[in-house]
Amino acid sequence: MTTAPVVPAPAGEPRADTSPVLELTTLTRHFAASKGTVRAVDGVTLTVGRGEVVGLVGESGSGKSTVGRCAVRLDEPTSGTVRINGTDITHLSRRALRPLRKDFHLVFQDPSSSLDPRMTVGQIIAEPLRLHGIARGRAARERVAALLRQVGLRPEYIDRNPHELSGGQRQRVSLARALSVDPDLLIADEPTSALDVSVQASVLNLLADLQRDRGFGCLFITHDLAAVEFLADRIAVMYLGQIVEVAPTAELFAAPKHPYTQALLSAAPVPDPVEQRSRRRIVLSGELPSPLAPPPGCRFHTRCPVAVDRCRTEVPGLRALPATAKARQVSCHLVTADGAAPNAAAPNAAA
Ligand SMILES: Nc1ncnc2c1ncn2[C@@H]1O[C@H](COP(=O)(O)OP(=O)(O)OP(=O)(O)O)[C@@H](O)[C@H]1O
Ligand SMILES: [Mg+2]
Repeated sequence: MTTAPVVPAPAGEPRADTSPVLELTTLTRHFAASKGTVRAVDGVTLTVGRGEVVGLVGESGSGKSTVGRCAVRLDEPTSGTVRINGTDITHLSRRALRPLRKDFHLVFQDPSSSLDPRMTVGQIIAEPLRLHGIARGRAARERVAALLRQVGLRPEYIDRNPHELSGGQRQRVSLARALSVDPDLLIADEPTSALDVSVQASVLNLLADLQRDRGFGCLFITHDLAAVEFLADRIAVMYLGQIVEVAPTAELFAAPKHPYTQALLSAAPVPDPVEQRSRRRIVLSGELPSPLAPPPGCRFHTRCPVAVDRCRTEVPGLRALPATAKARQVSCHLVTADGAAPNAAAPNAAA
């Protein structure tokens, strides 16, 4: 799924549900630091369609969480725009933003830091219902009970405190709270990476089930390539504050175009041991450069096995590949218009 179908809204409807749930346009977030400007996010354009799951991947420090935080105005973009359901929220005051907050929610990596330890599970889940005037008292309690069921927690958890729960149970409570007001957009920032490996899969399965049942759009931020392959319709790959490739999930895994994506995917384990043995792991030289001083030209050129002179000076913009699957985009000088890509695993072979 790439974009929502365009269905004309009946006359008098308050909002046509045709715009993407999230539209980021040249989003930039720079931080002032003693040594200069940290260009954490530098011109990210990305949409999440209605009911679509978009994965955001890239190594640590590439700017994924900053994108997620700016998208829900937990952080203020330096420039660019954030639209949710077609409404530009970039410069809305806190007060103007408040009623819109029920449309989008962020679930954090570490559920223990995002759940108030003085509140019961029931109060935590009911709070958004109360704040948005959706339900209170008995109606709220009934809704909370239904939500607990949906996230796989027994009814008696309603009166427990977060510290009485395991990490996985706490993340289930975070999901119930986020979904209590039926948001159109859920941003999940590494929702399982703080959990025991043994419970990660069950929380991921829960997220997939809830998404299928409720149809919210989701920006799923993760390091976990298996998780993103399982959950996402489309994947955006970030490198040093910018998106270097966007593609439908199957296409990305079948034929990554950007040398960075090729390297990233080559490091992921594959279940088939025969394929695993035949695969060439691309080991990138050097560390991720500092976002204080991103390399000129293509930001990836300092580590790219196939870089040529042009890459060191000329910035490759993210461009659509018209000859490939719809919504495929890449920022690499060496990828041709018909989608032929260099092979970072065999830098000396002809592309
Ligand atoms: N408040 C801040 N002040 C200064 N620099 C920041 C701030 N927040 C983030 N950064 C920097 O911005 C860059 C991107 O950080 P961000 O947390 O968005 O990356 P990430 O892709 O989410 O990484 P991870 O995978 O480790 O979670 C990093 O270099 C980080 O140090
Ligand atoms: Mg992060």
